[in-house]
Amino acid sequence: MTPAFVIAVDGPAASGKGTVATRLGRELGLPVLDTGLLYRAVGVLTQGAGEDPDDPAAAAAIAILLTAERLEDPALRTRAAGELASRVAIHPGVRAALLDFQRAFAHQPGGAVLDGRDIGTVICPEAPAKLYVTATPEVRAGRRWKQLTGQGEVVSFDDVLADIHRRDARDGGRDNAPLRRADDAALLDTTEMSIELAADAARRIVEAARARWEKSRSG
Ligand code: C5P
Repeated sequence: MTPAFVIAVDGPAASGKGTVATRLGRELGLPVLDTGLLYRAVGVLTQGAGEDPDDPAAAAAIAILLTAERLEDPALRTRAAGELASRVAIHPGVRAALLDFQRAFAHQPGGAVLDGRDIGTVICPEAPAKLYVTATPEVRAGRRWKQLTGQGEVVSFDDVLADIHRRDARDGGRDNAPLRRADDAALLDTTEMSIELAADAARRIVEAARARWEKSRSG
C-alpha cells in the first residue's frame, strides 16, 4: 500500500485548528475530518437516548454504532454539544470505538487532513506532517463567543471563557490520550494572527514536511 500523506492538526478548543485544517484540505485537494464531531455526536446521541454521558458503557455502546451521516447534524456545533463531547471523550471505550474510523479516513489513497486532540500522538503518530495550533484562552474564548452568538446562541464572554478553561483542564488532564503537543509537531500560535496569516503559516509548514517526506521516500 502506498503510504498516505497524513496531516495531523491538533490543539485546544477554538485555537483555529479547524479553519487551518479546512484551508489545508482545500488547497491541497485532501479530504478533511473534524474528529471533534465524532465525540460531539457520541455525547449528543448518548444524552438523546436518555443515557448518562458520564457512564462509560452507555457512551461506548453509542460510539460503536456511530455512522458518518450523524456528523452532518448542525446541533453538533452548539456549546452544549462541545461540553458533552469532552465528557464522553474521557472514556477509553469511546476512544477505542472511534479509532478505526479515524485511521481508515487518514489512510485513504492520497492522504487526508485530520484535526483533533490526539491525531499526532495516538491516531496517526506516523503522520509526516504535524501541527499543534494554539492561542491564549482569552483569544480562543473571543473566537468561540463570536461563533456561538453568530449561530444565535445567547451566552456571555465570561461563560465561554469558563468553558474553555474547564475543557482545557479536562482534555489535558485525562489519563487516556490527553491533549498534548507531539514532540515532532510544529507549533503554530495563532494568538496574534489573522486566519489568513495562520493558514499561510500552516501551508508553509506542510509544504516543508511534504518535501522532507518525498525525499525520504525517494531516498
Ligand atoms: O474540537 P472540538 O471542540 O469539536 O472537540 C470537542 C471535544 O471532543 C474536545 O473538548 C475533546 O474533549 C474531544 N475530542 C477529543 N479528541 C479529539 C477531538 C475532540 O478528545 N481528537
